Amino acid sequence: MAKIKFGLIGYGYWGPNIARLIDESDRVELAYCADLLDNSLKQIKQKYPHTTTTKNYKAILEDRSVSAVLIVTPTKTHYKLAKDCLLAKKHVFIEKPLTYSVKEAEELIKIASANDVLLSVGHVFLFNPAVKYIKKIIDKGELGVIRHFHFQRRNLGPVRKDVNVLYDLAPHDISMLLYFINQKPKTVIATGESYLQNGIQDVISASIKFEDKIMANIILSWIDPIKIRDITIVGSKKMLLFDDVSQSEKIKIFDKNANIIEATRNVPFGEYQIALHSGDVYSPDIENKEPLKEEINHFIDCIVEKKKPLNDGHNGLRVVKILEALQNSLDNNSQEVKI
Ligand SMILES: NC(=O)c1ccc[n+]([C@@H]2O[C@H](COP(=O)([O-])OP(=O)(O)OC[C@H]3O[C@@H](n4cnc5c(N)ncnc54)[C@H](O)[C@@H]3O)[C@@H](O)[C@H]2O)c1
Repeated sequence: MAKIKFGLIGYGYWGPNIARLIDESDRVELAYCADLLDNSLKQIKQKYPHTTTTKNYKAILEDRSVSAVLIVTPTKTHYKLAKDCLLAKKHVFIEKPLTYSVKEAEELIKIASANDVLLSVGHVFLFNPAVKYIKKIIDKGELGVIRHFHFQRRNLGPVRKDVNVLYDLAPHDISMLLYFINQKPKTVIATGESYLQNGIQDVISASIKFEDKIMANIILSWIDPIKIRDITIVGSKKMLLFDDVSQSEKIKIFDKNANIIEATRNVPFGEYQIALHSGDVYSPDIENKEPLKEEINHFIDCIVEKKKPLNDGHNGLRVVKILEALQNSLDNNSQEVKI
């Protein structure tokens, strides 16, 4: 069977990872790559001599034999590029976040639907075997009632110039959060500071509250000494730590909990008792699969089988809604913002 033709826009830091996976696939070919920089185009030509390179992404849109375009450019360029691709009836995969604003995301969803093409967002953690494992045990009730989440995404760089650390890093955490609990967010608060570039916060602390008293805190930084990517999930029965930087025990499940002893719950004068339980820790084996490869394969499957991506436009919009509300809080002295 003939390979499906893909075009890639953006061959900077992240684009080469996507180009490699397209090239390795036996179902698709990297027909085009567009970038504004001569050096990027030179690199792609050296690596993939059969790929047509161009500075003008519209050349990809004019070629009717190209089925899909993958957009791997800075966040604020996503909307315009995606709109043009969707109007040219190309299936579109956009790196995270879908767009900078809710309005733009909603418009892209409408255009994709009107043109009967797929819109998919690079929420790569939804394809991470450890994240899928966590989702499974939350759904089975192994952790009990979920109470709260701590996310930490800290490192020394890379520092972006187009968006702040919220738009750069939080899409990962927010997409996982929504996947884990599938609840409606109610309110958000964010606070942050800009140390390197005026008006572009490089350190942000964000808090999101959901129905059922679930709370999530996210710490984001581009200027931390060591790379930390972890999530703590606290349930009424057990607690879990996902350390994405760890090479061996990525997930630890703690048989620990804190609960009011039910028999004492209604006694007067605060004489109820709280039991703290601390048992074993275990670390499950997690299958070893490359999340980005899984994500690209899912996009190809959805094109071939005409099915809705897990990471579709609506999924991307839910993340952008929270980002926009958090940015609103940042811009208004950390006021609580309703969603
Ligand atoms: N999933 C992940 O873990 C992950 C990691 C890093 C980046 N990203 C995402 O990937 C996207 C790109 O990030 P990056 O770090 O590669 O940025 P980058 O700045 O390193 O590269 C972007 C490239 O896009 C090119 N470009 C910009 N406008 C263009 C246009 N109109 N036509 C053609 N080329 C154009 C630039 O020349 C540049 O080479 C962002 O959305 C970012 O959030 C995702």
